[in-house]
Amino acid sequence: MGLVKIGFYTILESTRVKLCFYIFKSSVEVCSLLQDRPPQSFDVERVRNDFPILDRQVNGHPLVYLDSGASSQKPQSVIDTIARYYSQQHANIHRGVHHLSQEATQAYESAREKVRAFINAEHGHEILFTKGTTDGINLVAASFGRRFLKKDDEMIISTMEHHSNIVPWQMACEQAGARLRIIPMTRCGELELDGFESLLNPRTRLVATVHVSNTLGTINPVEEIIRLAHERSVPVLLDGAQAVPHLRIDVRALDVDFYAFSSHKLFGPTGAGVLYGKESLLNSMPPYQGGGDMIERVTFERTTYNSLPHKFEAGTPNIVGGIGTGAAIDYVTQFDEKAIQAHEQALLVYATERLLNIDGIEIIGLAQNKASVISFLLDGTHPFDVGTILDQLGVAVRTGHHCTQPLMDFYQIPGTVRASFALYNNRADVDALVSGVERAAKMLL
Ligand SMILES: Cc1ncc(COP(=O)(O)O)c(C=O)c1O
Repeated sequence: MGLVKIGFYTILESTRVKLCFYIFKSSVEVCSLLQDRPPQSFDVERVRNDFPILDRQVNGHPLVYLDSGASSQKPQSVIDTIARYYSQQHANIHRGVHHLSQEATQAYESAREKVRAFINAEHGHEILFTKGTTDGINLVAASFGRRFLKKDDEMIISTMEHHSNIVPWQMACEQAGARLRIIPMTRCGELELDGFESLLNPRTRLVATVHVSNTLGTINPVEEIIRLAHERSVPVLLDGAQAVPHLRIDVRALDVDFYAFSSHKLFGPTGAGVLYGKESLLNSMPPYQGGGDMIERVTFERTTYNSLPHKFEAGTPNIVGGIGTGAAIDYVTQFDEKAIQAHEQALLVYATERLLNIDGIEIIGLAQNKASVISFLLDGTHPFDVGTILDQLGVAVRTGHHCTQPLMDFYQIPGTVRASFALYNNRADVDALVSGVERAAKMLL
């Protein structure tokens, strides 16, 4: 058991974990006390009935799905929308003179409007449909990078980024001769804002950071990050893949410049996502890909480009993906956002408290402000072995580095077991997880 220094405290490692947890727990309680209105009640059993997959058995046990961070399950309304589209509405969109094409175009564009309203963007044309978060970040890295990143410039990301918010920037920096700077963090799993501020300088061109960490659950202080960056006229991109399922996002209140997320983590279809960008920035950036739909006029000598959003949506898009994203937004917005948050926070506190009672467990990531994600290790065991035992009991968790290898290097661990909770999880799911981990501890320790 090592000695760890936290500020002016020097305490034992296990005490540090408990201390982090008590700070975290009391901050959750304070947060709920500070809410301006009590959340409406949230009937999780009714919600579970909307998700047909939750009725199935896995390995002879009822499915306990705790892998929503990787991909969430789909409510019947989203499944029905997708089936209806293919059975009744499908045609290629834009420029079609016939009825079906116009109906499909209308459905696709009305989904764009649903996304706009969902994140409170000013204009529909600031919403670009993408393949997902990865695709959205690559779009900005390729296009913004080509236009604005020059030799000796700098880009800032953080220690806790998903590979999809690291590698595209490494590629852009390599091309431009620019370099990446990394926001430091504490072992509790919080970004160090002083460290961030000291990285900002006249060579900084963009800050790109994760809103909610997929591995730690940390909800980063993005308002403060944006404020500090904007004071130096540096734009900010947020990777919202894990934020959108848990928090209500208002891009105008945040004043964020780019915001990327995936539909499949928000109860929508795979292969679909959204990149929000401020109109002025998107207009100043070159197209990402060339092809149909993104042009205004093509000759062999020269091409002029279409207006937003089409300039960035080359080729036949994932039409059903866009429409399915709209259906997913209809689904989540029927609930009181505070009720969802209160439900998920209660599960997080309950699960954290129960897991910490298991001998040999270490929770990785105990930030004060956390979404419902718990990464943990059972002393001396491999995460894969724990995950396999849980799977035999019908409990689906994710194991490994979670596409955050630099974060694993920071903690000097190969990976973790990660349980991630969504609005359809209940206390029985936590109980199944805990008894599965207790069983794994008995078998492996
Ligand atoms: C924080 C974060 N960013 C980006 C991604 C990439 O999302 P996608 O694979 O849907 O593009 C993920 C996926 O797990 C994620 O958790």
